[in-house]
Amino acid sequence: MTENRIKIALTKGRVEKQVIPVLEEAGINCDQIRNKQRRLIFDSETQPFEFILAKGPDVTTFLERGAADIGIVGSDILTEHQSSQYELLDLDIGKCQFVLASTKDFDPNAAKRKIIGTKYPLITKRYFDRLGQDVEIIKIEGSVELAPLTGLADAIVDITETGTTIKENNLKIFDYLDKVSTRLVVNRMALKQHPKEIFDFVDRIKAVVEENKEERV
Ligand code: PRP
Repeated sequence: MTENRIKIALTKGRVEKQVIPVLEEAGINCDQIRNKQRRLIFDSETQPFEFILAKGPDVTTFLERGAADIGIVGSDILTEHQSSQYELLDLDIGKCQFVLASTKDFDPNAAKRKIIGTKYPLITKRYFDRLGQDVEIIKIEGSVELAPLTGLADAIVDITETGTTIKENNLKIFDYLDKVSTRLVVNRMALKQHPKEIFDFVDRIKAVVEENKEERV
């Protein structure tokens, strides 16, 4: 690995799927990632980049510890993990929104202390603090929609993209919280060490993001 190779931590799953076409439009070959099977790290002799595929919260850890130079991750994760890394670009993809949702009989104004299931305890606490409500928060790792359906919680705070999961599980949205999108963040030290390589990468991605925005108008 050459010294100036930039390490990019990319969030596995939905973000990865939406980011690959953007990278390809920017002229970055993603064949290895597309055909990855169980591989997690992608190094190419022809490109100055190395890609690491990781879960969102771990992308912030890789960045914070300097094990990655650039991270591509949702703003939900950055907020929840209070990431202090430098955000350079909103990729305008991976758009979703935080919602408060539950079964139809949920009463958001009920006086009793609510139990809220979520993957995002900090964001949930901040939301209910703003409302002046003290709630019990249960951290759930996935399939959060199960919580109100099974009686584990009274309601959930979760992200929704297409709305399909909420709809197919007969849940109802009671409030809309912050919007979310995929962001490009950099490790500050890496930016000092490799400004040319990092800005070159960011500028290529930025040009694609701007072009795609114009096409949508
Ligand atoms: C997220 C989120 C919802 C779902 C919403 O989960 O927690 O469950 O996506 O998407 P939709 O509005 O398009 O249906 P994810 O798919 O990341 O998996 P998880 O349930 O394992 O957390």
